[in-house]
Amino acid sequence: MRSPTVLITGCASGIGTETARAFDERGWTVYATDPDRDDLEALAELGCETATLDVTDAEQVDTVVERIDDETGRLDCLVNNAGYGQIGPVEEVPTEAVERQFDVNTFGQHRLIRAALPIMRRQGHGRIVNISSVYGRTFFPGQGAYTASKWAIEGLSDALRVEVSDHGIDVVLIEPGPVETNFGNRALAETDRLEETGAYDWFYRLFDEDRYDRRFLDKAVGYIQPERVADVIVDAVHAKNPDARYVVGPWKYQLWLGSLVPTAVRDRLFETVKRLP
Ligand SMILES: NC(=O)c1ccc[n+]([C@@H]2O[C@H](COP(=O)([O-])OP(=O)(O)OC[C@H]3O[C@@H](n4cnc5c(N)ncnc54)[C@H](OP(=O)(O)O)[C@@H]3O)[C@@H](O)[C@H]2O)c1
Repeated sequence: MRSPTVLITGCASGIGTETARAFDERGWTVYATDPDRDDLEALAELGCETATLDVTDAEQVDTVVERIDDETGRLDCLVNNAGYGQIGPVEEVPTEAVERQFDVNTFGQHRLIRAALPIMRRQGHGRIVNISSVYGRTFFPGQGAYTASKWAIEGLSDALRVEVSDHGIDVVLIEPGPVETNFGNRALAETDRLEETGAYDWFYRLFDEDRYDRRFLDKAVGYIQPERVADVIVDAVHAKNPDARYVVGPWKYQLWLGSLVPTAVRDRLFETVKRLP
């Protein structure tokens, strides 16, 4: 029998790379994708199939999914991983940058889901794994656009899970805390897009790499390595009855506790963070 097939987006670095490796180790046929296929050479050498895929490009999405169907006749799992963080105070993020953030993090996942579902429904099974974040259920000042894109994917995934259950398809949300990847570098690079007003000095202090070494990004308290996220993803895909959501890293308890804390108290805590030197 043919091995099961997985399509993963955003495999050039971090969680995507490690997830491709982890599926490969378990004997899956892995389609590892990225906007720049040249960045996937190491995974190709490992035996993964590779393809160019920018999740904002609907034509590329269809081409890759059709290729997988032609070559394997199946698509057992989709891992919607591609994403980045558009950080900045909400006022200073141009609306076009918020649109771009949603185009990749939210609409990108939606495009892939729509392309994969006809194959999964035809075969009567499938698993869709959407990479969210602890910021899919909480927030941090200075990360409003990113947080909004992840809250959106949480709502979409919850509705989808119930809609597709009759077809043998499961939908799983992965909610990592901080993970040491290229995420922080990319997020800091995106601050070039901000339209500075001079009103949010705290943001530029907290996200100053020389001062805090990405400690409010992917090297925040309790950060983990991407291999750990990959292991949780692969285990969730092999679980007989997967959970709806998996918090990865030491943030499960804090997330639960945070949901009990009144908003006014939480806001006061963030006010203290804003005053850090
Ligand atoms: N690191 C964290 O602290 C953390 C925490 C929670 C959740 N997450 C989520 O985990 C996922 C993976 O992030 P990571 O931490 O592994 O960061 P990463 O190392 O920067 O990897 C992100 C991947 O997404 C790709 N990507 C960006 N824009 C894309 C597009 N338009 N189409 C297709 N691929 C695109 C990047 O490709 P290029 O490099 O070629 O642009 C890269 O391969 C993201 O959804 C992120 O929101 C990360």
